[in-house]
Amino acid sequence: MATTSYHVPVLLEESLEQLDLKPGAVIVDGTLGGAGHAQAILERTAPDGVLIGLDVDPDAIREAGLRLGRFGDRVRLVQASFRRLADVARELELVAVDGVLLDLGVSSHQLDRPERGFRFSPGPESPLDMRMDRAGEGITAAGLLASLSAEELERVFSKYGELPGARRLARAIVEHRKLGPLATAKDLIDLIQGAGIGRGRQHNPATLVFQALRIAVNDELAALEEGLAAAIRILRPGGRLVVLTYHSLEDRIVKQTIRSAAKGCVCPPSFPVCRCGRKPSVRLATRRAVEPTAAEVEGNPRARSARLRAAIRLEAA
Ligand SMILES: C[S@@+](CC[C@H](N)C(=O)[O-])C[C@H]1O[C@@H](n2cnc3c(N)ncnc32)[C@H](O)[C@@H]1O
Repeated sequence: MATTSYHVPVLLEESLEQLDLKPGAVIVDGTLGGAGHAQAILERTAPDGVLIGLDVDPDAIREAGLRLGRFGDRVRLVQASFRRLADVARELELVAVDGVLLDLGVSSHQLDRPERGFRFSPGPESPLDMRMDRAGEGITAAGLLASLSAEELERVFSKYGELPGARRLARAIVEHRKLGPLATAKDLIDLIQGAGIGRGRQHNPATLVFQALRIAVNDELAALEEGLAAAIRILRPGGRLVVLTYHSLEDRIVKQTIRSAAKGCVCPPSFPVCRCGRKPSVRLATRRAVEPTAAEVEGNPRARSARLRAAIRLEAA
């Protein structure tokens, strides 16, 4: 049986509107999660629309399979990263699709399961895992903490967490390794507090540390860059790209990628005429990022930081 509270879809109506759904459309949901967006997409593209659903997490694929069973052969699910979108499209013999949705980050289900280790929660102890694909061969957060040098750890915390005190924390971790491994979320929280990171600051430093580790473990920013490029490539002219982000690092990448694709030319401003010959491949559908309403945030606090950007594929590439 599918559980009811896997994940509440964020900016749902806004996403559906930007996808400009029509009956018979072929839509890729690159981040299935609890299939909230996917179900609504299938309903709005009835009777014959097709949904290709990807997720790196086998749990999400299993759950989505249960939730979307009633749509029969209108659904194709693939356990894969959206960075492989172009390969998946080729394997499924898709020529071009009408829309791609990427709803980034982790689902409530992933966050709420202590055994996944995505955040510190009181109660059952969390191992520092943080892999979205637990069946894969990627390194865990505990593995990173045990193996990266102080310089590499500092880079992770400052680049992916924008953490004040990144160097101090990195050094404290390397010191701690002489005593024993950091295996659980509580071990890490104790170390952050012991090192005095973020004292007197508004943001909880543990949130930034966990975010940084999660991004590093799942190579999230590189996956996003590759996924956006692949998504633009597989869209038909007029097809829609819709991306939901949850922190400024992701949003910056989406904004810059879409703007650059809309501009085309990459010649330095000092060139009097274009020499690169690149043409715009998309047009912006959202000038500014769309944010959730106060009512949505009140009903679903996890929507608070969501930002939606969308683009429309152009004929010339
Ligand atoms: C915010 S949730 C999506 C929620 C979904 N829209 C819904 O309505 O239930 C993000 C999902 O994307 C998945 N994910 C994150 N990065 C991914 C990637 N590179 N490729 C495929 N799936 C990814 C996560 O495993 C998670 O299940």
